[in-house]
Amino acid sequence: MARATIQFPRGFLWGNATAAHQVEGNNTNNNWYAWEEAGHTEHKSGLACDWWGGRWKEDFDRAAETGQNAHRLSVEWSRIQPEKDRWDEGALDRYREMLRGLKERNMTTMVTLHHFTEPLWFGELGGWESDEAAQLFADFAHKTVSALKEYANLWVTINEPNVYAYSGYSAGVFPPGKKDVMVAFNVMVNLVRGHALAYKAIHEVQHEARVGLAHQYRPMSPKNPKSPLDRWVAKTQSGIFNDLFPRAVTDGKVKLLWKTINIPEAAGTQDFMGLNYYSRDFVNFDIKMAAELFGFHSYADDADLSGTGFISNDPEGFFESLRWAQRFDKDIIITENGVEDADDEMRPRYLAQHIEQVWRAVNFGWRIKGYFHWSLVDNFEWERGWTQRFGLWELDVETQKRRKRKSADFFEEICKTNSLSSEMVKKYCPEVSDKLFPD
Ligand code: BGC
Repeated sequence: MARATIQFPRGFLWGNATAAHQVEGNNTNNNWYAWEEAGHTEHKSGLACDWWGGRWKEDFDRAAETGQNAHRLSVEWSRIQPEKDRWDEGALDRYREMLRGLKERNMTTMVTLHHFTEPLWFGELGGWESDEAAQLFADFAHKTVSALKEYANLWVTINEPNVYAYSGYSAGVFPPGKKDVMVAFNVMVNLVRGHALAYKAIHEVQHEARVGLAHQYRPMSPKNPKSPLDRWVAKTQSGIFNDLFPRAVTDGKVKLLWKTINIPEAAGTQDFMGLNYYSRDFVNFDIKMAAELFGFHSYADDADLSGTGFISNDPEGFFESLRWAQRFDKDIIITENGVEDADDEMRPRYLAQHIEQVWRAVNFGWRIKGYFHWSLVDNFEWERGWTQRFGLWELDVETQKRRKRKSADFFEEICKTNSLSSEMVKKYCPEVSDKLFPD
């Protein structure tokens, strides 16, 4: 018997999240392929985890055998609609097969329609800068949900629209590589429109659908709380990055810095709140960073940092994010949480400490229904290529061999018992045992 056990509600969803371009391989008809070919990334996605070649089967087996009862995946728009006027029924069949594969393994399915990638033809028409974008996306949503509705009713329209707009149109590290805040704002407005039309289209074809977005929330604290400028810049940036989308899909108002745009059709278009959480940022005012709206982001000086310094282990920031999420008064599903850690040294404690925060929040009566870890197997990490490893399973990209990490054993115990115990923490991450289960 464990000395202490924290238990999750019956029916809690435990699984992993993945995204098409990061796992499928051979996605050659989208904006990311072109971006990789043009040399903007550390590595190329190549075969990725070879899911399109059929290796999804063995990875779904891994998930099911280790007690996971849910999986979030995304479909690749450029496969389903390779040209503006052509649908590929074969690709839809393939996704049906994959989703059926999850159902046969008794797993709940969640499907994302847009996870950072889009077909080349869509970009040629102007991408999300174009006024046509929202309707084109809604048509794709309508077609896809009509085809897959037998196997899913949980839909994420757009993954992290804030990260997408920021990285592609302000920081310029995602395609199309623009660095223009005004364009980024225009893209945000169109993403809200696209979500709203897709929400409607999905509900038209599936009554029982539950539709949301996966919002990345990053608490932003002033680097120097005594500095009014740091406080101002942290608050302003958080307002744009964290609050713009969830507010817009609640009340139909897109609050930009200098004006509010009304999109009435976006009001009330979120059936659940999808939350992606990785880290908290500290922000200080920097006059030189006009393109970044004057905010310089960093981590705490004493942060517990991941291998490449990309993520700081800040479980309290997760709790803060959950508190923020529950204000929207919807069911909350944690759609991503995890850390890059090739050596699997930090991941066990990151997992334990973050899952404990979920439990705290559940015990306040907050409506948290599930937790999707990022990710199942090491996958292609966008502009960072293969330099960061987020998988419970390690992937040898050359041989496609998988190796189970210690964290996968740990997650297995959590999923199978629907709990986290002092024994597990002692076994997998004794360094935080006193913190989580003090004597
Ligand atoms: C994205 C994932 C990505 C993860 C880790 C999230 O922002 O949704 O696609 O792999 O972060 O970088």
